[in-house]
Amino acid sequence: MTDTPSVYVTREIPEVGLERLRAEYDVAVWDGKLPPAKAHIEQRLADLSADGLVCLLSDEIDGDVLDASGDLSVVSTFSVGYDHIDLAAAAERDIAVGHTPGVLTETTADLTWSLLTACARRVVEGQAYVDADEWETWGPRLLTGPDIHGATLGIVGLGNIGTAVARRAAGFEMDVLYTGRSRKPDREQELTEVGVDATYVTRDELLAESDFVSLHVPLTDATEGLISTDELQQMSEEAILLNTSRGGVIDTDALDAALEDGWITRAGLDVTDPEPLPADHPILRHAPERLVVTPHIGSASIGTRNRMAEMAAENVIAGIEREPLPHSALADAGLE
Ligand code: GLV
Repeated sequence: MTDTPSVYVTREIPEVGLERLRAEYDVAVWDGKLPPAKAHIEQRLADLSADGLVCLLSDEIDGDVLDASGDLSVVSTFSVGYDHIDLAAAAERDIAVGHTPGVLTETTADLTWSLLTACARRVVEGQAYVDADEWETWGPRLLTGPDIHGATLGIVGLGNIGTAVARRAAGFEMDVLYTGRSRKPDREQELTEVGVDATYVTRDELLAESDFVSLHVPLTDATEGLISTDELQQMSEEAILLNTSRGGVIDTDALDAALEDGWITRAGLDVTDPEPLPADHPILRHAPERLVVTPHIGSASIGTRNRMAEMAAENVIAGIEREPLPHSALADAGLE
């Protein structure tokens, strides 16, 4: 028997994070490509009498998992989102919960813009056209799309990532609208300083007036299915919808109908419902002409993933030491 605390990690996160943990603890890592089953996580936590758990957004962490080891003092998710963790159950059990906010803001905003430009300028469709050997000559009408510069960008949820996406609109001289539960004068000021005038509008106004609608809200009971038939029908037929938040914010069947019937022009999704999206999912019949999908890679830059691994390790270390976490999901959710 050893007194060294033990930590279970549900996937191979970047080495820099594992090194930090291995320097202090006995560390066991699930080395599968797919997520371990919930029962397996519970079994490993119990076998190790684990003090810490590092999980991913694809692991469901509920009361059963939290009860699997009587020694568990911290759950640290390798993500900013924590909708996969039962925070109330963790708080009840006095188990700290850490996440990785801030670090992935700019990286996710970059990816949002990749989807925006790819959708508007039909980049993926262009690649498919070349691959199919259809490129025979320069074409005056070939793969035309809307201008990005000078268009109107609508941000749903002007939090960190929404603001970072809006900031990038300065270079494209776009009009920026935003909506959310309340007006955010501080965010408006921050954007004014970089030359973006962001106007607070109702959701209905934003949907009706935006050329690009980009979603940046967490998945909660209030935001699940936020974009459904009514909302898609309010959008312009020329509009492009972008989602780099959580798949459940869009009703997938409604989006399928919108793309089928031309209520909107195109959608770019980094997150889907279901997720992963199987290759035979019906909505993929719209790709790449009307739909561009990436496999939830918003934070996937090398630097950001390394920093997330460090932050996840820092949260574990603080939690096992029973110190306040540097990045507490409970605090951020108002449960601490
Ligand atoms: C990614 O979606 C995250 O929550 O980190």
